[in-house]
Amino acid sequence: MGLLDGKVAIITGATGGIGRSVAEKFVSEGAKVALADIADKAGEELSSALGDYAIYVHTDVSKEEDVANLVTTTVEKFGKLDVMYNNAGIVGAPESMLEVSPDEYDKVLTINARSVLMGHKYAGQQFRKQGTNGSIITTASVAGIQGGWSTVAYTASKHTAAGIVRQSAYELGPFGIRSNAIAPGVVMTNIQARAFGVPLEYAREFNEYIIEHLGKKQAMGRFGLTDDIAGVATFLASDLSSYVNGQVIPVDGGASAMTQNTFDKDILEVTSAFREKKGLN
Ligand SMILES: NC(=O)c1ccc[n+]([C@@H]2O[C@H](COP(=O)([O-])OP(=O)(O)OC[C@H]3O[C@@H](n4cnc5c(N)ncnc54)[C@H](O)[C@@H]3O)[C@@H](O)[C@H]2O)c1
Repeated sequence: MGLLDGKVAIITGATGGIGRSVAEKFVSEGAKVALADIADKAGEELSSALGDYAIYVHTDVSKEEDVANLVTTTVEKFGKLDVMYNNAGIVGAPESMLEVSPDEYDKVLTINARSVLMGHKYAGQQFRKQGTNGSIITTASVAGIQGGWSTVAYTASKHTAAGIVRQSAYELGPFGIRSNAIAPGVVMTNIQARAFGVPLEYAREFNEYIIEHLGKKQAMGRFGLTDDIAGVATFLASDLSSYVNGQVIPVDGGASAMTQNTFDKDILEVTSAFREKKGLN
């Protein structure tokens, strides 16, 4: 028995680091999945690898008609919808607040946040048509909880996504439709290489370098893994989370629970110096 036996799920951004892990985990737990992305070759390959349990549907989440078509195609193929996972996203606009252009800002907001609303809109309409419960999941970010993790456009987009999830508890909760977000900390996927201008052919090497130099400095002594996210996504897709709604759940090893300063370490050093000065050691 799998946790998702008999369920039908859509996953956007399904060929990326997190989306792929979620797709594989959902299928291993018994779900049928519609993989949505703009990376068609990778989408078709992943779909073949998952066999009868998967279809690939080309979907640009920034286009309303594509999201509407994704839901319709999934229901035509698998007969119903139980889970909508809004996961596609970009970092985009690297500029600071003082330099960012309105067009770049709008692009990031459209791909990362308006898409989340479209996912709620069309999955929500389908759940209402079916007269069933449904679970909507969104990949937000620690940048949707705190400032200072990323650029202004990305931070604003993820805060907006979190806002849509909370509003859904009010608007869709009464119909038995749950919506929750996962807020990952840093997971070394291709999004990092893209964000820092590293060509994708160097992404694996870049990720290994960052893991080696910074991994130990993270809250739990390592970066997040895509499987860390897939586990929580499976819980939210399953009936185990039947009364969890409107929540933005950090999956960040504790990073957003702590302040980022080094006061605790610094005071030990200064106290030691003081004791030495006074001859107290
Ligand atoms: N990796 C992290 O550190 C991290 C942290 C917090 C949040 N997130 C979020 O997790 C989600 C997945 O990111 P990832 O780390 O797997 O990155 P990734 O770059 O590996 O995957 C992103 C996927 O989204 C797809 N995509 C991009 N634009 C699209 C569009 N317009 N329509 C459809 N698909 C599109 C890409 O083709 C890719 O497959 C994103 O929303 C990201 O913001 C990632």
